[in-house]
Amino acid sequence: MVTNNPDAPIGVFDSGLGGLTVLKSCLSAMPHERFVYLGDTARTPYGSKAHETIRRYGLDCAHFLAGHEVKMLIVACNTVSAHALEDIEKEFDCPVIGTVDPAISTALRVTKNHRYGVIGTEATIAGGVYQRGLTAADPAAQVFAKACPLFVPLVEQGMVSGSIVEQVVELYMAELKAARVDSIILGCTHYPLLAGAFQAYLGPDVTLVACSDAVAAAAVHELRLGLLGHSEGAQTVEYFVTDAADKFDGLGATLLGIKGIHATHVDL
Ligand code: DGL
Repeated sequence: MVTNNPDAPIGVFDSGLGGLTVLKSCLSAMPHERFVYLGDTARTPYGSKAHETIRRYGLDCAHFLAGHEVKMLIVACNTVSAHALEDIEKEFDCPVIGTVDPAISTALRVTKNHRYGVIGTEATIAGGVYQRGLTAADPAAQVFAKACPLFVPLVEQGMVSGSIVEQVVELYMAELKAARVDSIILGCTHYPLLAGAFQAYLGPDVTLVACSDAVAAAAVHELRLGLLGHSEGAQTVEYFVTDAADKFDGLGATLLGIKGIHATHVDL
């Protein structure tokens, strides 16, 4: 069961490693909170799955975290945020923070030419949530959206640079570059790990918009409404994965520089 006890942990989940980009922002923004992180690594990628499957997987993850009596759920996965946020909000009586609105608000702030790129998984792009959100908030918006299904498997294999990555970046990003977008929403929490390769291809005039800091800020805002952990409390994180834990621990340390990950294997 979820709880309204301020001392309870915050649950964060993703299909795999990508949610660690959000967790990292949360760790700096919330130094006195406890976190429980779940990476559903056995079933990643979610982004090539059907709506109903994504919905079911998202609810499975949320139920697992609710079993840890969390006070808030952070859906650190755009694919689940795009397909199942409302279902999770309906089922759990606690604040639920997704990635889509925070990413859109950030993009609206940084654009100058109103030409937005959006990259994400097949399911996120096909769902159209970013395209609808941007055009609703900015009547001058021109949105160029591109599904990039190879990026998540590359990141999950720890491949974030090198010639194969460069070729895939060019494959997906050539049309966004040609469309002269000035900002690109990284509509998948795995993608900030490829930011170096993206920026090298696009050049310095394109701003990459990750949702992680904005998600952490949204979570802090919600906690201030009565759920803030005690200021003298020590920050802790418990990690759970559904596939091999040692691989996750190693990639979390090398790709994200998060120390002390000792994930526990669970079956959902
Ligand atoms: N990191 C996730 C996202 O933000 C999931 C990617 C996937 O599993 O395909 O969409």
